[in-house]
Amino acid sequence: MANDKPTLILGIETTCDETAAAVVERQSDGAGRILSNIVRSQTDEHVPFGGVVPEIAARAHVDALDGIIATAMKQAGTGFAQLSGVAAAAGPGLIGGVIVGLTTAKAIAMVHDTPLIAVNHLEAHALTPRLTCALAFPYCLFLASGGHTQIVAVLGVGNYVRLGTTLDDAMGEAFDKVAKMLGLPYPGGPEVERAAAGGDPQRFSFPRPMLGRDDANFSLSGLKTAVRNEASRLTPLAPRDVSDLCAGFQAAVLESTADRLRVGLKLFQQRFGAPRALVAAGGVAANQAIRSALQSVAASAETTLIIPPPALCTDNGAMIAWAGAERLAAGLTDTMEAAPRARWLLDAGSTAPAEFANTRARF
Ligand code: KG4
Ligand code: ZN
Repeated sequence: MANDKPTLILGIETTCDETAAAVVERQSDGAGRILSNIVRSQTDEHVPFGGVVPEIAARAHVDALDGIIATAMKQAGTGFAQLSGVAAAAGPGLIGGVIVGLTTAKAIAMVHDTPLIAVNHLEAHALTPRLTCALAFPYCLFLASGGHTQIVAVLGVGNYVRLGTTLDDAMGEAFDKVAKMLGLPYPGGPEVERAAAGGDPQRFSFPRPMLGRDDANFSLSGLKTAVRNEASRLTPLAPRDVSDLCAGFQAAVLESTADRLRVGLKLFQQRFGAPRALVAAGGVAANQAIRSALQSVAASAETTLIIPPPALCTDNGAMIAWAGAERLAAGLTDTMEAAPRARWLLDAGSTAPAEFANTRARF
């Protein structure tokens, strides 16, 4: 689509435990600007259960979403009539929440006669560095959140190749489970990082999963079990034990991640040439120890490390709006039949067109 004036997109995110909406502007030269970005975390609702409860999440999205959208529109100083399109994360995620966001977006699109863009949540994480620092394709993405751990070659809008993935637990999930078994509150990642800071990473010799393998996959459940075994052996746990267990677990995750990424970057180089950058996204990218490990991996692969600001690494509406803007600029919009999806592979579109079968070129 020849698009020579700025586009204004409302983005809606409801796939997990954040209710979020944002308005983003995209210039015809590809530059982006966030006009508003409102995120309401549901952590307080889920804390008593030690994790996200899907029914509670869906209900909380229903209660909060209209108000969040109104605030995002007001803060952006715009009205629905000015929008060039409305984007919602249509998956992957908890299906109840996805339905809430996608249905709301459809209603807005229908009432205001504006295009609908059904965005893959993972694609939104993948395209975020193009919003924050106008990064050109191709680049290598390390996405590590509560639901996903992937190394992805980002080659173009809608063109992704997964180079590595977890065979069991997602990285954030492993942090959360370790926190829970050690009696630390949810969400566990930041708690484990905090406890690890004062601990001895060498007291326990935990396994380094997948080290030295020539694929770029991850596996975290064996490490998690090793932590559980040590923890039960030591019960009742003293604060010193908790710190040392966290430090040992985090050190093992770091070493394994660095090794997996070295392989991922090598596979990238072999298949697509030099990446413009290594990009980290997802909640786990907020971990300072992981950030420094990634820094040295990027340096030895002679590439630049880019980590979007924390508020854009974790789930938010701006990334959905931006992915919507990028897809709209490529002429990719969706019909009212766009389906909510609990599972939606990011790279299936590049090899199996059926994955994007609900996408229609509107212009
Ligand atoms: O991307 P995100 O906000 O939401 C999704 O899961 O999509 O990621 C949340 C995950 C949680 O599992 C949380 O424990 C983890 O990211 N996390 C961390 C840290 N901060 C958040 N893991 C390790 N270290 C951290 N500092
Ligand atoms: Zn996410």
